[in-house]
Amino acid sequence: MNLHPISTKVTKPDREKLLNQRAKVIWFTGLSGSGKSTLAVGLEAQLYELGFKTYLLDGDNIRSGLNTDLAFDEAGRKENIRRIGEVCRLFLDAGVIVLSAFISPFRADRERVRNIVGADNYIEVFVDAPLEVCEQRDVKGLYRKARAGAINDFTGISSPYQAPENPDIVLQTHKLSVEESIQKLRHGILPKISNQSSKNSTIE
Ligand code: ADX
Repeated sequence: MNLHPISTKVTKPDREKLLNQRAKVIWFTGLSGSGKSTLAVGLEAQLYELGFKTYLLDGDNIRSGLNTDLAFDEAGRKENIRRIGEVCRLFLDAGVIVLSAFISPFRADRERVRNIVGADNYIEVFVDAPLEVCEQRDVKGLYRKARAGAINDFTGISSPYQAPENPDIVLQTHKLSVEESIQKLRHGILPKISNQSSKNSTIE
């Protein structure tokens, strides 16, 4: 390919310094209804209050915009996650902390994101609620439709979910309140995104 990437004068470390933070990707994975979006939204609000520059990418939003052309078969999910990985890489380069909430059911696709953004920049959060609980919650009414055969390839029903083998953080949302989960997230994530020489590294 005749591509010649430019090298910029302003670099990722420059931007991180300006923003007084370390850019990371916080990658939430879990079944539909497990609580990914709720926790990502809640965590982002708290990080904002603490002065961090963040951006949230969410399945329902990205699939109705950038990835509107993709289905939920294996190829569609793979391409969905690949593109999101590339978007994460751009935000990282901009010095921004990305919160990414996608089912991302396939281990190989998550590994690919880890490679795209760099293992040191990737924090995997497994939002671990049993299928029965997610189905009971059925916030969007999709499990009912999937059981009735009205949705194909529905994760947990007619399409697999491969749980992470070695996630950085596990949140059992059927055992913890939303606030407890967010507190656990804050505790795990703040040391990784705080600029070590600044005051915010001491915040719990
Ligand atoms: S992923 O598997 O490719 O990572 P993504 O997170 O982008 O999925 O989108 C999941 C959202 O799409 C769900 O929260 C749900 O609202 C909606 N959705 C529609 N059809 C399906 C399906 N077949 N399987 C899972 N989610 C679906």
